[in-house]
Amino acid sequence: MRLFAALVPPDEILDEIEAAIAPHVGQVPGLRWPDRATWHITLAFFGEVPERVLPELEVRLARTAARHPAPALAFDHFGAFSSVRRARVFWAGLTGDPMTRLAESVRAGARRAGATETDEKRFHPHLTLARAKHDQDLTSLVESLAGFTGAPWRAERVRLVSSTPGARVRYASLGEWALAPPPRG
Ligand code: 2AM
Repeated sequence: MRLFAALVPPDEILDEIEAAIAPHVGQVPGLRWPDRATWHITLAFFGEVPERVLPELEVRLARTAARHPAPALAFDHFGAFSSVRRARVFWAGLTGDPMTRLAESVRAGARRAGATETDEKRFHPHLTLARAKHDQDLTSLVESLAGFTGAPWRAERVRLVSSTPGARVRYASLGEWALAPPPRG
């Protein structure tokens, strides 16, 4: 099974993003906009994981979540991979806790559990909103959204998600684990 770990922002935060992009959805030739129900921030992509690894992976994710305080975040810009001028993936970007240690720890735990194909790319937290089959210049889209500032929020839980490829990729949540309470003050 193809697995990844993700954070899912609260509904009211997704509402803000949905409202911001609404005038553009379906309006940019070549961009496909997945359903809001699939929106997430990938913490770590595990690739193909044998089913027997799942119980140990769940234990490790629970332990990692419990050790890391819920990160304080806000969406404050839009951008694209690999670049705005040559875009395949259009996303909403975050400010706040960089989450590098959380992402590292999730990956390390997964590897120890036996998820050997775990992706090692540099962590760049983002929420994918649209995809293109070919490189596309999204300068005007990104510029028209430049004034956006989302409300602050905390990611309270880490979610384990299975992904089934197909004409329309399907995601299923396999479990969620609470992050530690944030430090006081
Ligand atoms: P993306 O949102 O930028 O496309 C499920 O595929 C999730 O894992 C997606 O959010 C995807 O990022 C992310 N991901 C990270 N590395 C991946 C990889 N090597 N293959 C597929 N998805 C990957």
